[in-house]
Amino acid sequence: MPAESPRIPSFRPRAVASVFQAIWSFVRHPRRSLRHWRLRRMTPEQVFNDIYRRNAWSSAESVSGLGSGLDQTIVIRRELPALVREFGWRSMLDLPCGDFHWMSHVELDLDYLGADIVDDLIQRNQARYAGPGRRFVRLDLLADPLPAVDVVLCRDCLVHFSHADVRRALANLCASGSRFLLTTTHVHAHGNRDIPTGAFWPLDLQAAPFLLPRPIRLIDERCTHRGSLGAKCLALWHMEDVVPRPATSAAA
Ligand SMILES: C[S@@+](CC[C@H](N)C(=O)[O-])C[C@H]1O[C@@H](n2cnc3c(N)ncnc32)[C@H](O)[C@@H]1O
Repeated sequence: MPAESPRIPSFRPRAVASVFQAIWSFVRHPRRSLRHWRLRRMTPEQVFNDIYRRNAWSSAESVSGLGSGLDQTIVIRRELPALVREFGWRSMLDLPCGDFHWMSHVELDLDYLGADIVDDLIQRNQARYAGPGRRFVRLDLLADPLPAVDVVLCRDCLVHFSHADVRRALANLCASGSRFLLTTTHVHAHGNRDIPTGAFWPLDLQAAPFLLPRPIRLIDERCTHRGSLGAKCLALWHMEDVVPRPATSAAA
């Protein structure tokens, strides 16, 4: 019988490069790397409940963060009712609604459903703000079937998702049968960096790997708080235009 040739471990340059990259990034940004390492070990529900309980977005005004204060929402509080009237929307899903702080200052003449993954927030909103034509339910944008409405408002959420979760969220929104999506995108030329869900990157939905078409409307929020890169906008798309591309072909 011929002797079996010894197994030589295969050399995978890509795997080796990514290990070195991880070590290098840990050396350069130890706190951020540790935070990302922790986030990767949590479910989205754990991540956002933890952020809520610790008020980790550090705003004294809103647990939904600095971008949800009244000073940062002046433009959208003015533009949103005008958009609702212009398109004749009769129903809205605000997913995620966060603590409904700035939204409680907006007059919207439609059927409003606010939803969030954090159950405590939903209980609180329901007790404080529910009324005729306005209610709150717990929904996970990544996993739960969503109701069909005229417009889904998804502000300041996908910016906290990994690329895989952005794709999952867009696919779920499309599957809802809703007509329009009004969501946050950033207009800049810095590209999209993949992050663990729970971290932040100023996502540009028209850039790779998402490559959404030009939106029907783009509202520059004129946001001034730190962390923004380029202009933070609310962009309006027909829902059929936000169908996510498969990961492989979009990565080009
Ligand atoms: C930065 S806040 C923005 C809230 C609100 N849109 C606003 O403009 O004030 C992000 C919110 O997304 C919620 N969230 C994160 N992942 C979610 C998911 N998978 N499903 C539903 N809500 C989610 C968080 O709990 C948090 O309340």
